[in-house]
Amino acid sequence: MFMLKAFLLTIIVIIFLVEVVFRIFAKLFPFPAPSLIGTFLDSGFRRVVQPPAKVIERSGIKEGMRVLETGCGSGAFVDHVSRAIGQNGKLYALDISPGMLRRTERKLARLDNIDIKNVELVRSNACDLPFADETFDLIYMVTVLWEIPDRMKALKEAVRILKPGGIFSVTELLMDPHYPLRSTVVRTCCKAGFVTLETFGNFFDYTIRFKKSG
Ligand SMILES: C[S@@+](CC[C@H](N)C(=O)[O-])C[C@H]1O[C@@H](n2cnc3c(N)ncnc32)[C@H](O)[C@@H]1O
Repeated sequence: MFMLKAFLLTIIVIIFLVEVVFRIFAKLFPFPAPSLIGTFLDSGFRRVVQPPAKVIERSGIKEGMRVLETGCGSGAFVDHVSRAIGQNGKLYALDISPGMLRRTERKLARLDNIDIKNVELVRSNACDLPFADETFDLIYMVTVLWEIPDRMKALKEAVRILKPGGIFSVTELLMDPHYPLRSTVVRTCCKAGFVTLETFGNFFDYTIRFKKSG
């Protein structure tokens, strides 16, 4: 029993130290997540820790919406959101990394996703979006916003392309080396022109739903 406790404690300490090292590294050398971690992002473990259905519900994603996922990564949420908005909706899955987009493309090409016809992949920087003003009903970001060095610029772009009253949702997970505190996200997003509608979850895993003000 003592050995088991010592083993578990060692694992927890190692995870903690790795997390701290990653955080320091991410702060010193900001760069987008390498596509290699796409395997973890779209894994069974991730779906247990951060179930897509929960993110969809908290974000306020509904049937028929025109939606943008900024920083879609390897597509962990793309298939779920595509089905949630249905054939009357449209999802643009955007990422700066060609490697991540290739992963999402491969996922969508799988036989179990043959029904998905409402997704368009876009390679772009969140700070300079290739969309007209007031295009989207909803924009969501999962473990992305604090990875963008000029996040205020990315937020202003989100404000620009959202329809009046459109929804912007930010989801974060403590495991992510870029994890920001909830209060920091609220302060930054409100400064960019959003109004907080509702917050969900806890310290480890939260979603904040905002509305475009004005
Ligand atoms: C930690 S991953 C999260 C991916 C996905 N949202 C998920 O939760 O599985 C962050 C993603 O944001 C993308 N990203 C980082 N900076 C970006 C930027 N300026 N514009 C667009 N995407 C960006 C990265 O390429 C990466 O795919």
